[in-house]
Amino acid sequence: MRVTIFGASGLLGKALIHEWRGDVVTGLSSGDADIRDGKRIEMLVREQTPDWIVLAAAYTDVDGCEKNPDLAFAVNRDGAANVAAAAEKAGARLLFLSSDYVFDGKKTEPYEPGDARNPQSVYGRSKAEAEIKLLNLLPNVCIVRTSWLFGVGGKCFPDTILKLAADRPSLDVVNDQRGCPTYAPDFAHAIIQLCGKNTEGIVHATNAGDCTWFEFAKEIIRGAGLHTTVYPVSSAQMARPAPRPAYSVLSPARLRTLGITMPSWQDALRRYLAERPRQATAQ
Ligand SMILES: NC(=O)c1ccc[n+]([C@@H]2O[C@H](COP(=O)([O-])OP(=O)(O)OC[C@H]3O[C@@H](n4cnc5c(N)ncnc54)[C@H](OP(=O)(O)O)[C@@H]3O)[C@@H](O)[C@H]2O)c1
Repeated sequence: MRVTIFGASGLLGKALIHEWRGDVVTGLSSGDADIRDGKRIEMLVREQTPDWIVLAAAYTDVDGCEKNPDLAFAVNRDGAANVAAAAEKAGARLLFLSSDYVFDGKKTEPYEPGDARNPQSVYGRSKAEAEIKLLNLLPNVCIVRTSWLFGVGGKCFPDTILKLAADRPSLDVVNDQRGCPTYAPDFAHAIIQLCGKNTEGIVHATNAGDCTWFEFAKEIIRGAGLHTTVYPVSSAQMARPAPRPAYSVLSPARLRTLGITMPSWQDALRRYLAERPRQATAQ
């Protein structure tokens, strides 16, 4: 199988490149191909003749999207449509990465793939509109929604907590947002299997289990053997430009029917904490 990954220099892209075995994989960063440039994307995809395109490229700064909505829609919605148009012309399958932010976070039980979208932020709207465009352009597109991605390949919540904990005796962390932490290598494995199974439609994929950011931070501190005290605070006390969903637990039911399971987030965190110092030494 031939695979082209857009967004290969990002947190997920790096994990995909690292974990993918047995296929011919090409990774592209924004320097190789800006997905806003439809003609260049079409030419690159025609040259590479991929069986699958994995579209992990996105403008992912959620608060930045609030300040730069034009850029958010240009990259996340219209850029995605450029890639879908190129996939359609080249006869390639497309797997598009989407987000828990397409939901409003008002549910109290896990979101299923068919639940109504109701994004509350510019980032969420750009992803939701991309999903709708892609489903119209490429009816066999595979849309994979995930949440709370972490890994050694980039900026992420555990990395921030560990850096802050190194300098501070205590940290305030929000305790009224619940979601599913997702370790990039585990998510990459799920994506590789979804392509191998020729999956169509919307799938939710996260590590198993859920927690609040406060609970996640406490487990990070404990797992790293640190003694920083973590205090629970409300989202209102830590106001940010973009609203965050209060509840964004994604149901694994469809993933399971496809024969794919993911380890618990606690197990994933243990592996991240073991991998992180090795990565720091290698740099
Ligand atoms: N991180 C999360 O918690 C999370 C949660 C849910 C869903 N997702 C989705 O999962 C996917 C991967 O996220 P991530 O955390 O790996 O993202 P990331 O680390 O921010 O990486 C983003 C990637 O997109 C590329 N990119 C940005 N603008 C581009 C453009 N105009 N043209 C081409 N490439 C461009 C970047 O390339 P350069 O490095 O060259 O700029 C980088 O490779 C995204 O679709 C994201 O929306 C992420």
